[in-house]
Amino acid sequence: MIVPATDSNFLKARELLEAGQVVAFPTETVYGLGANAFDQSAVAKIFAAKNRPYLNPLIVHIGNASEVEKVALIERGSLCQKRLNRLSALWPGPLSLVLPKQPCIPDNVTAGLTTVAVRVPNHPIAQKLLKLISFPLAAPSANTSTEVSPTCAKHVLQSLGERVSLIIDGGDCAVGLESTVLSITGPTPTLLRPGAITREEIENILQEHVHGTEKVELHTPGAAPPSPGLLFKHYAPKTPIAIIDPTNSNKISGKIGLISFKALSNDKKTEYTETILLSKDENLEEIAKKLFAAIRELDQHKLDLILIDTCQETGLGTAIMDRIRRACGV
Ligand code: TXA
Ligand code: MG
Repeated sequence: MIVPATDSNFLKARELLEAGQVVAFPTETVYGLGANAFDQSAVAKIFAAKNRPYLNPLIVHIGNASEVEKVALIERGSLCQKRLNRLSALWPGPLSLVLPKQPCIPDNVTAGLTTVAVRVPNHPIAQKLLKLISFPLAAPSANTSTEVSPTCAKHVLQSLGERVSLIIDGGDCAVGLESTVLSITGPTPTLLRPGAITREEIENILQEHVHGTEKVELHTPGAAPPSPGLLFKHYAPKTPIAIIDPTNSNKISGKIGLISFKALSNDKKTEYTETILLSKDENLEEIAKKLFAAIRELDQHKLDLILIDTCQETGLGTAIMDRIRRACGV
């Protein structure tokens, strides 16, 4: 059920979470499906509701950077601590840090890894909820596994239906793409998922080199990948989806939908059954914010193919193109 963010609904959410149930709530990136991160059986309900593979670990949400040691084991004077001190300036915000885990974090949160991903969400509803409860929230995106992440309460309902009894409505998410995931446990910081906090920004703050996602894809075959989430099919609508190739777009027949990042001439528009314009002028913030909603929308139009535009791969554009490539399976 979608409910407004009233005091009585916050109390209802607290009651459910304290009883080991799941609650969906908005963050600045996407909606999350939260449960008590210290309670293994509550966390198991997240995996069941999402049909999520147990090998894919969750992000733990805390209300304030000062609470990080409740969930992560930070050795005093370590390189990891120094990096954390600098990067916590970006909290609250769309940055998840992979840190050595505290033993109190159940194995199903971290998929048995010795590390835990932690973030402080920058959304008044997520903040208020975290202040109201006495434990951190393990929360993946509130969608069925393999679907695009939800950026409004209605998407959560469409995805999870009755499997989640309470969805707190916070309107549309401001960022629209999931958080940047950065591991700072190894010798070199490694970007595991690009997001709104860019590699350039992180390198500036850390004053050291950050391995990019290309490093992640090049992991030794057979070895455990640094971010298990990268192994799984993701962002895939039911309708076939492909990146637009302007050189042969008019050779494609059938009912085609287009997600465009810039204004289209009327002539161009008539080539498609449906068009969604995310930005008039390739504004990356606008594109990121509306991208997942547009994929969901066109997926409901019984099209033969969804074509999707491309943008520059710098700054936020890196995260946008990452999600598009994974949606298109390329
Ligand atoms: O913006 C977000 O991050 C949203 C909101 C709700 O906070 N959450 C989210 O969670 O996107 P999820 O579960 O959809 O993605 C979590 C990603 C996965 O790619 C997973 O592999 C990675 O984080 N991850 C989690 N724990 C990890 C760990 N210990 N080591 C490496 N990667 C980890
Ligand atoms: Mg997800």
